[in-house]
Amino acid sequence: MKITVLTYLDSEDENSKDYDPVVPQVARTLRKLGHRVSVLGVHGDVKRLITGLSRRKPDLVFNLMEMFGDNVFGDIPVTGLLELLGLAHTGSGPGELYLSQDKGLTKKLLAFEDILYPRFAVFARDTAFETGGNLRMPLFVKPLRSDASLGIGGKSLVHDAVALMERVSVIRKELDDAALAEEYIEGREFYVGVIGNAQPKALPPVEIDFTGFPEGVPKVMDSKAKWDERSKEYKGTRSVLAQLPDELRARLQKVAVDAYRALRVRDYGRVDLRLTDTGEIYVLEVNASCYLDKESEFAMAAAAGGLDYKRLIERIVDLALARHKKRS
Ligand SMILES: Nc1ncnc2c1ncn2[C@@H]1O[C@H](COP(=O)(O)OP(=O)(O)O)[C@@H](O)[C@H]1O
Ligand SMILES: [Mg+2]
Repeated sequence: MKITVLTYLDSEDENSKDYDPVVPQVARTLRKLGHRVSVLGVHGDVKRLITGLSRRKPDLVFNLMEMFGDNVFGDIPVTGLLELLGLAHTGSGPGELYLSQDKGLTKKLLAFEDILYPRFAVFARDTAFETGGNLRMPLFVKPLRSDASLGIGGKSLVHDAVALMERVSVIRKELDDAALAEEYIEGREFYVGVIGNAQPKALPPVEIDFTGFPEGVPKVMDSKAKWDERSKEYKGTRSVLAQLPDELRARLQKVAVDAYRALRVRDYGRVDLRLTDTGEIYVLEVNASCYLDKESEFAMAAAAGGLDYKRLIERIVDLALARHKKRS
């Protein structure tokens, strides 16, 4: 098959081959699977995007778009464009991406399915304040829609109204996003990958081990812990395959699949969860079309579930094609 791997470019130099590391990994794997593969990297030029796709006429777009130019939410309209062009593509469409990106809306969909989530309040810029009930301090304040722990750090956990409003205004100003305040859920943290459409299956849970985390700071995957390789937070966290009694593993997997379904995720995704001392499982967020790097928690979980990287990529291709065929 002719497959185009579609990705964003950080740089405006459209000839730059400075791709996210996941791009060559996926392209190489698709070649190993026998496909004819091209990579299309676009920074923010819609014409280039359309021309690049029209020229290549792929049978399938492997969609690794995370943003478009400076627009961190640009993956949504780009996916919409793929659908307008009638191109089969991997992962969720614009609607599903929108639902899971908005962590307030996500909770409202989870509520209908009786899935637990932290009680919350949304501080939008131009609409009325909305709240999920009386909130109990401390609260965790994060951007409503941005991911990758953007805007999440040492000051995210707040203990009073003054600190809360300070964080809210920083997020609105610096990230140009609404702010979301959630009740802080103390407990173990898990990532559960899910694959499939008609019958989504959960992968083995991965746990974030905070054992080496610095003392006195809340144990959360903030931007340092995720990205700053020299920080104590990064060095102090590890993702490990969770060692769990069967019953608890099954419960985590069920909540993850329920949340995946509630958000209508397509092909693949990852659900971030916390488990309290009393055994309650809270969904923190759902990541439709989650990061697919070979080193990612999702790839790690897939491997543990019997899908090595090659088979994982093959499965995603098969799921996308089967969906597309059904539609046309
Ligand atoms: N309500 C909460 N209670 C406790 N920790 C939280 C809460 N919300 C987020 N966190 C911490 O912050 C991290 C990032 O939050 P998350 O909602 O997953 O956003 P992102 O999209 O940036 O990954 C989580 O992995 C978790 O460690
Ligand atoms: Mg997360």
